Amino acid sequence: MCYNTARKCFLLKGTGLSNQTGSFQVKVSGRIVKGASTFSQEADVTETSKFGVGKREGHNSSAFYSSKMMSRIARGGLGEENQEYLGGSQIICKSSEVMDELPDRSVGLAFTSPPYNVQKEYDKDLSLDEYLGLIERVGSEVYRTLVSGGRYVINVANLGRKPYVPLHAMFYEIHQRIGFLPIGEIIWVKAKGAGENCVWKSWMSAKAPSLRDVHEYLLVFTKDTFGRPDKGESTVSRNDFMESTLSVWEIAPESAKRIGHPAPFPIALAKRVINLYSYTNDVVLDPFMGSGTTCVAADWMNRRFVGYEIEPAYCEIAVDRINKQRVSIQEKPIIFG
Ligand SMILES: C[S@@+](CC[C@H](N)C(=O)[O-])C[C@H]1O[C@@H](n2cnc3c(N)ncnc32)[C@H](O)[C@@H]1O
Repeated sequence: MCYNTARKCFLLKGTGLSNQTGSFQVKVSGRIVKGASTFSQEADVTETSKFGVGKREGHNSSAFYSSKMMSRIARGGLGEENQEYLGGSQIICKSSEVMDELPDRSVGLAFTSPPYNVQKEYDKDLSLDEYLGLIERVGSEVYRTLVSGGRYVINVANLGRKPYVPLHAMFYEIHQRIGFLPIGEIIWVKAKGAGENCVWKSWMSAKAPSLRDVHEYLLVFTKDTFGRPDKGESTVSRNDFMESTLSVWEIAPESAKRIGHPAPFPIALAKRVINLYSYTNDVVLDPFMGSGTTCVAADWMNRRFVGYEIEPAYCEIAVDRINKQRVSIQEKPIIFG
């Protein structure tokens, strides 16, 4: 499929394979230019332990949830009816502050890593208020487009040391204000060992030792309800489920040079999130798509994807990655799970 525009004509190589979600479109400034399973385990019912930590299986936590502390924290309720998204997969080259291509309640999962406003190639030197305003406007649009029980998973790192900027705490505040319910937090461990970057002037001294981050966060939010009220087909295997539901994930980072984007996350991270938190018929959204890692992973995993990105050069990288994957899939069958 080839869409001709004033900008460029991009060839999209749809394979038509049964395991693919079909061709996809690319839009610049809104114009087209390119192209439940349940895991159950029989176990004795346990209650919140009054002393130490109890077992989790078949856990009865009603005492905890009826406590005074929890009664002050927002609890979910049933949402309105979901709408079907009738489009196919799309890459849309414009700001995700307005995602009017997507109907309300039509997206099953949103996964993203936002810009951090830290002078990367794509960053604009925004004030903290301006930056958090962008995160809130996009978060509100994600909230509008998610189905009841749909998840918004945000990969974020904290910044600086003098002082430390706990972006993740600010993100919690913003997204809870929008209406999202937090359902957990994953610590993504990117590197194990001690690297060479050390604050030498405080070497082996209590004067000013500086922590070196080897982790980032994945904040997991849901809309309206704590589980998906709708039915769907899951792809997560028993072993993947057991591993993915642990709160620490060890996954090696992606090379910026290899992908051609200043801050890509690894495809293994996106696949794990999509596998755990979405059904096969879901639409997976990335409002800050960058090089399209979420879209590449979603396409591989037989989900439809919608990615928003303001930089046309990154949209091109995303299209290229998806096309290359589709071509390679033709040569090798998908083995998944
Ligand atoms: C951290 S990067 C995402 C990287 C991505 N996860 C990947 O694997 O390549 C954030 C991206 O958000 C894009 N961006 C910034 N503001 C945006 C906006 N208002 N709408 C859409 N994309 C935006 C930037 O150009 C950048 O590519």
